[in-house]
Amino acid sequence: MKVRVVDDAVAGGRLVADLLKRTLSLKSDMLFGLAAGGTMAELYRFLCEDYKAGLLDFSRASCVNLDEYAGLSPDHNQSFAWFLYEQLFSRVNFEPKNIHLYNGAGGIEAELTGMNRFLISNTIDFQMLGVGENGHIGFNEPESAFASSPHSVKLTEDTIAANARFFENSENVPRTGLTIGMRDIVRARQVILMAYGAKKAPAIDRLLRDDFADPMLPCSILKLCADVLIVVDRDLADIVGLR
Ligand code: F6R
Repeated sequence: MKVRVVDDAVAGGRLVADLLKRTLSLKSDMLFGLAAGGTMAELYRFLCEDYKAGLLDFSRASCVNLDEYAGLSPDHNQSFAWFLYEQLFSRVNFEPKNIHLYNGAGGIEAELTGMNRFLISNTIDFQMLGVGENGHIGFNEPESAFASSPHSVKLTEDTIAANARFFENSENVPRTGLTIGMRDIVRARQVILMAYGAKKAPAIDRLLRDDFADPMLPCSILKLCADVLIVVDRDLADIVGLR
């Protein structure tokens, strides 16, 4: 695992946008693994700016999103599909047929089967990840099986509390999520995990220091990936003692 320390989330977004741009220039039909959440905001802002400046072309690329809240349709303003539409899809030129998302309001089994089929026949080239305070990646919560494929998840109280900031109150946060599995993430050719701020420090500290992967810390499965970059900001780096 490589680690890069950047000044802040803006610098992290710029760094990852540049890496993505380089990879896309080598392989225009890349499959991106996307994530929603606050960590992604600066990255997506730079991708949109670079697209507008004529520096990026997504017309041959595809993307798949990690996860979704069960019960929220794509036009619900707290769904991850909506987040991605607002922050990325409405501003860049992915072909709609190349965007692969869960429909949170679809039948859970049908959605999981569809995603599983897609991921069995396609390999993610460039997976972008945020991380939960409890170490979750996607909605793979602590104790998720490392061999998991797309599945539904009962969200932990930690995750519900952390995500309540996006809803009117914590009662409105859905209790179930759909997520691609740990197995699917590990199969990605390249993984970039971004973590900013003190709250993510305990998870990153263990990810970098433990010499084993532990299902209680889902992000630790990244130790098994072929090509991983962890991007952290200065605040987090200071806490975990990185230069
Ligand atoms: C969202 C996702 C989650 C987030 C994580 C961090 O698609 O996969 O695992 O990456 O909860 O969320 P933020 O970035 O809001 O701190």
